[in-house]
Amino acid sequence: MTPKGTKLTDGRHQMPDAIELLRRDHEEVKAMLSELEKGPVAADGADENQVMLRKRMTEQLIIEESKHEAVEEEYFWPAVREHVADGNRLADHAIDQEQRAKRVLDRLDKLEASDPQFETLLGEFIAAGREHISFEETQVWPALLAVLSGEQLRELGGKLEAAKQVAPTRPHPNVPPSPGILKATGPAAAVADRIRDTVTGRDAP
Ligand SMILES: [Fe+2]
Ligand SMILES: [Fe+2]
Repeated sequence: MTPKGTKLTDGRHQMPDAIELLRRDHEEVKAMLSELEKGPVAADGADENQVMLRKRMTEQLIIEESKHEAVEEEYFWPAVREHVADGNRLADHAIDQEQRAKRVLDRLDKLEASDPQFETLLGEFIAAGREHISFEETQVWPALLAVLSGEQLRELGGKLEAAKQVAPTRPHPNVPPSPGILKATGPAAAVADRIRDTVTGRDAP
């Protein structure tokens, strides 16, 4: 789901603030994690359709995660580094979590849900993903909210929202998580990802 800004009385759209936008993504990802956690899994006798659906749901999770983390790395972490007193430490820790998650998701993306490794990797991601979300929500967001004005948050929200439209839909764990490199390579990677999505029938919005 793409968050849309609120319509103002004069017809213009007001950008959602950055935290509001990221929170919607987090809620979506958390719902997917809970759904995946419910199973059924191949080892417990899930039928062919259920296994296929599990693979599709995991692809959707990977698409959402890839776009979300890409725009955070392009715009959100630079803002945290710039404005929050302890911003470098917070950003370094979070980006380290994101890079690890990308490596797990990259391996997961290449496996069928019937592969014995699939559930191991998915379980690893579910735990790590929740830990990462919780770190951002409890350690980072309050610190940023304390120093940015409503206008600055909306400006950042606008950048995140625009970047998400051209964000990669795959994890790309070998691309360094530097904002400059991501901004330069992200749109090209996104185009390549979306062509692959079309060819393989992967359902990226
Ligand atoms: Fe993140
Ligand atoms: Fe996040």
